[in-house]
Amino acid sequence: MKAQIPKPLSTIYMPNYLYLKIELNPIDIKKSENILKKFNYHKYNERLEIFTSLKLKKGKTFAEEVKNGLSAKNKSLPPKYFYDKTGSLLFEKICKTKEYYPTVTEKKILIAKAEEISKKNMKINLVTELGSGSSEKSAYLIKAFLNERNSLHYIPIDVSEILYESSLNLVKKYKKLSVSGIISFYENGIKLIKSIDDSPKLILFLGSSIGNFTRKESVKFLTNVSRFMNPDDRLLVGFDLIKDENVLNNAYNDKDGYTKKFNLNILKRINRELHANFPLSKFSHKAFYNSNKKRIEMHLIANDDLTVEIGDDKYKINFTKGESIHTENSCKFNFDMIQDLADQSGMKISDQYTDNKNFFTITSLTLKT
Ligand SMILES: C[S@@+](CC[C@H](N)C(=O)[O-])C[C@H]1O[C@@H](n2cnc3c(N)ncnc32)[C@H](O)[C@@H]1O
Repeated sequence: MKAQIPKPLSTIYMPNYLYLKIELNPIDIKKSENILKKFNYHKYNERLEIFTSLKLKKGKTFAEEVKNGLSAKNKSLPPKYFYDKTGSLLFEKICKTKEYYPTVTEKKILIAKAEEISKKNMKINLVTELGSGSSEKSAYLIKAFLNERNSLHYIPIDVSEILYESSLNLVKKYKKLSVSGIISFYENGIKLIKSIDDSPKLILFLGSSIGNFTRKESVKFLTNVSRFMNPDDRLLVGFDLIKDENVLNNAYNDKDGYTKKFNLNILKRINRELHANFPLSKFSHKAFYNSNKKRIEMHLIANDDLTVEIGDDKYKINFTKGESIHTENSCKFNFDMIQDLADQSGMKISDQYTDNKNFFTITSLTLKT
């Protein structure tokens, strides 16, 4: 049941549990307080509220993850840090390049199948999304769901501030939609959903974001998501399929250079937020399909021997000419691999939607009963 949250008395950020605990039953209060204490809550109007927490409870901070990643023998950075405001805007530009087929293909599938998905899931009045970004594609599902229902609740979760704008755009456009946005990491956000709205839900994980995980991490992630699912819930996952290597390589090397800018932006962010001195002109973008591992790998390559200082304690990271920082994987799948992933995560495939070139699939998963 959706918690009715009283209006805040002022517009300053306040811990949301101050509001929520009034409405939740005693058992939920106990469970939720620990979770909710971490979030700042802000209600914009009757249909838009935002919860924010960019702290990981058990995880490491941005500074710690950067230090660990760059001190390792094979240097790497976690891709979730691509998405500061500039990174999110650059990702939107990548999506519009002619080389980046995943967005346009997934969008076509959604346009074709949104009505069917809505009609098949008439018990569902809640859509939640992991890594919602601009919510542009999810808007096709939202629209189709609203065509068949009097109201719909949408809970997007994203680590990027882009969520403010995308949520506001949605409530402006769809008068029967209410949005509870969560600006946080997947693992934090997913725990909060139940406290906000515990009704049957459609969970979206689009944009082939699953490909950023290793196979082992994907199983762990989906298993974790399944723990927050009820039998009536559906999880829609966008998988990028294995295809011609030229198509794959071009998608991550667009002629306008947006992917290159996106990749380099992570160093810019480290310079700004962690007081580092990466010379951006001394690093090159490299993206290629690794056919053994069935994934696109994205790297930043040092063009010279150089030393970078990071943080107020100015710890030093040395690079030799040609050395790489591995910044992202984007794993590609075939249908057997998706089936295996579902099996290992305690889920079953209920539907699978694809385009006519078999470039991409949106796979619907439910709990194995
Ligand atoms: C590849 S983009 C996909 C965006 C959108 N779903 C789409 O299909 O166009 C990944 C999105 O997930 C968000 N993201 C990445 N890692 C995240 C994490 N660990 N927790 C929450 N959001 C994350 C990013 O900010 C970004 O908006």
